[in-house]
Amino acid sequence: MRGRDIVVLTGSGISAESGVATFRDKDGIWAQYDYREVATPEGFAANPDLVHSFYNDRRRKLPSVDPNAAHTALADLEAGLVARDGRLTLITQNVDDLHERAGSNNILHMHGELGKAACIHCGDISACAGDLSIDDDCSVCRQKGGMRPYVVWFGEMPRFMDEAMAAIACADLFVSIGTSGSVYPAAGFAGEARAAGVDTMELNLEPSENAHVFSDSRYGPATSVVPEWVRETLNEHD
Ligand code: APR
Repeated sequence: MRGRDIVVLTGSGISAESGVATFRDKDGIWAQYDYREVATPEGFAANPDLVHSFYNDRRRKLPSVDPNAAHTALADLEAGLVARDGRLTLITQNVDDLHERAGSNNILHMHGELGKAACIHCGDISACAGDLSIDDDCSVCRQKGGMRPYVVWFGEMPRFMDEAMAAIACADLFVSIGTSGSVYPAAGFAGEARAAGVDTMELNLEPSENAHVFSDSRYGPATSVVPEWVRETLNEHD
């Protein structure tokens, strides 16, 4: 018997209890920074040092934060589904590495990764644990002035969209965790799932902007709501 295929989309809310700032909560990142200055190609062209400083600050904080019970629960879900001939596709809008550090494997970082850098000149993508600067040269093409964070900015095409849409289209269940549903295309995934006849669920601190699209929902902190849902989901199969 085929196991269950589940697709999970996560947003910054799943990392909030690890101490990683969300974007649109009252004390969020966009209350402190103008996204046009630090998260757009135009902002990078105008002031690359400001953009590198914004991401360097966030990259420096990564080693000091740890995965929480919600990240760990999703890693347990993946292992549990695979053991039952199923699959978990984890699409994340987050650029932190907390899902990886919790043990998840099948991850699609649709908005890129803080721990990587990209060269504008040759396109090479390389690991980046420390600070980035516009003065750095690319380790592959050796050109200067082209190193940028491997992060998808507003107005750029998110990554792995074909894989994400393919997984959603054939899933048994689509679950959205810790996202406000403010930014497309991720905010449209629940509607795509519903149109494909896939059950949908929202797990969030509070109803998101597209809460009405979901056929089921549970509200509360991710570290309590997600582990409880994972336990129930895996027990259903035993
Ligand atoms: N548990 C569960 N959900 C939480 C928690 C928590 N402890 N804390 C906050 N949330 C919820 C908030 O209620 C909100 O709905 O997480 C969501 C965070 O929403 P945003 O701050 O808008 O972050 P996100 O949805 O990830 O933003 C999407 O926007 O700026 C871009 O690229 C950026 O990937 C980001 C995208």
